[in-house]
Amino acid sequence: MNDAITKLEIDQRAVEINQWIEHSANKLVRLRDRVLGALHLGGRKAAYDDEAYEFIGGPSDTLRRKHYDKSLRLLWKAENEAPFLPFHDASPAERNIFDLAVRSMTDDERQARERLSLPAYRAFLDQTYTQRQKRAIVAILAAIGHGEAYAWLVSADLLNQVKSTGGRAALTMQVLEEAKHFVVLRELLQAFQVPIPRQSAWEYLLLEGVYKAPGTEKLFGMNVLVESIALSFFGLMSEMPGLEVLRLFHLDEARHTGLPGNYLAEFPLTRFQRWNPAARLRRLGLILPALALIPALEGEMAELGIDAFEFGGSVIRKVGVLAERSGFALPMANDKLFPALNRLFNAYCKRTRKGHEARDFFASETTVGERQLAVEREIFASAPAATPPRSTASATAAAKATPAPGPGPGPRGVSPLRS
Ligand SMILES: [Fe+2]
Ligand SMILES: [Fe+2]
Repeated sequence: MNDAITKLEIDQRAVEINQWIEHSANKLVRLRDRVLGALHLGGRKAAYDDEAYEFIGGPSDTLRRKHYDKSLRLLWKAENEAPFLPFHDASPAERNIFDLAVRSMTDDERQARERLSLPAYRAFLDQTYTQRQKRAIVAILAAIGHGEAYAWLVSADLLNQVKSTGGRAALTMQVLEEAKHFVVLRELLQAFQVPIPRQSAWEYLLLEGVYKAPGTEKLFGMNVLVESIALSFFGLMSEMPGLEVLRLFHLDEARHTGLPGNYLAEFPLTRFQRWNPAARLRRLGLILPALALIPALEGEMAELGIDAFEFGGSVIRKVGVLAERSGFALPMANDKLFPALNRLFNAYCKRTRKGHEARDFFASETTVGERQLAVEREIFASAPAATPPRSTASATAAAKATPAPGPGPGPRGVSPLRS
């Protein structure tokens, strides 16, 4: 009994009349919207079931645990992980915990994770890379940078198209993470102090096509195709000195590539959505500009000792595995598609490379770094056995690297998908 609360006397009859008016209005409003909905003339706009206190589709708690709870647990702050960039997104408590963790490291680790200023970071880049190598890194990462802008747009769009409370919670975290990826990568690339290229025609076609794809087809275009490309670029470059923060991008993208499989396990595509020839051709139509990107980036990748076709084979294999697993059929099954594309890659290389000998580009694995490979192993467990990481400039440079400003003691060695 709370004596501080004194009940007011009101007109009980007026309360009852108001309740009756509300009940009648409620019946009328909902009946009107049910009829309009059945006639496809509008009806209730929100896919929300207020009586169940859930979004249409139900709770989907598994999805929520895998993609919302986990994202929040792994949420990283640019101020700690890339302290040389102008972000103030960590709370005083998070900064203190980070600094305490840095103090408990060995001298070498501490040197690598000290808070660097932006001028010191720029000087570090100038000592580590030639001007041409800096331009190549920025040209390659800008392709993903523009992709992050579209990932932000597309995930915000998808947020209103997925079913269930868990599905929306998952997409909400993706919107937040893509926003972070876009703004942090943008600042990181600007720190290189070289011109940042526009989207190539192939990126333009690919990303506009994904943004315009209908409904859950966006899950194929963005989470399967574009995210696999981004995951592979981050896996390729996150061991390069000064780019260690990309390991955290890699971990986020791994979670995003897992979303179609987890979502479609609860809300499967219909047989028609999966297999109809128009959808399969549309999916191929998105892959084609991604293929055109491979020779378009060959020159820049070669500057860093990376074979663009090895990278392309590694990416397309991952795309194919995820597409098949999520039920997004392509015009050909993977066991036909990979050899056909491999023949195409070899034909191109035979014409453009002296002494080229035919090889299996689709068996290559261009992701480097133990943690990054472990993260990808979990996602692509059924992918064909990959060859050991190639020795590119990035791998060797990373091995020889002087302590670099790297990500701090945030969440590490964690599974991207398991809740
Ligand atoms: Fe992203
Ligand atoms: Fe993403």
